[in-house]
Amino acid sequence: MRIDIITVLPELLESPLSHSIMKRAQAKGMLEVHVHPLRAYSSLKHNQVDDYQFGGGAGMVMMLEPIVNAIESLQAKVKYDEIIYLTPDGETLNQQMANQLSLKGNLLMLCGHYKGIDQRIRDHFITKEISIGDYVLSGGELGAAVLVDAIGRLLPGVLNDETSALFDSFQDNLLAPPVYTRPVEFRGWKVPDVLLSGDHKKIEEWRHQQAVERTQARRPDLL
Ligand code: ADE
Repeated sequence: MRIDIITVLPELLESPLSHSIMKRAQAKGMLEVHVHPLRAYSSLKHNQVDDYQFGGGAGMVMMLEPIVNAIESLQAKVKYDEIIYLTPDGETLNQQMANQLSLKGNLLMLCGHYKGIDQRIRDHFITKEISIGDYVLSGGELGAAVLVDAIGRLLPGVLNDETSALFDSFQDNLLAPPVYTRPVEFRGWKVPDVLLSGDHKKIEEWRHQQAVERTQARRPDLL
């Protein structure tokens, strides 16, 4: 999969996408991420990309032209399955959306800033608008990083058996059960006996029961 990201703050995306599982996904050739600085597509003085909004009101709006230049020059090279705009008024990201997007070939992501982007970009280029939650970030970059991570780890061959996405919270509408590792006892706090029993059927039943209880207590809306 190839993901292109258009942003005014490319530095913000470098680090989150170059470690751990995202690094592995790219090293294995399963994922290719390209970050494009929007200012490079501005033909105005000082590489301006924002302007005052028509009708008045506080806050700048990202201009049409640099974004259109960026999108169209990328489209000349890559055929995108979705052009995604990260915005707090988009559809809220969930595991099912991440699953669906992980099946696509090429994605283009556009990070908003200030008061957002000129509506005409949304009307004529954007195919999907995604929010990562009901709170406002100072820009779409961290949202894009979250989205790339959620998608990237689902690509075939990225996770090994140990980190398999099949057992994640949300994959079957249940939160994940508690997990333990050595030592068996610390300050009198013990690992549940069943996990040391070697009885795999019992362990699976216990895990399922714990997942159900945890989901009932914390996220009854998922059941
Ligand atoms: N940009 C600002 N807030 C955002 C959010 N919650 N999700 C995605 N992009 C955003």
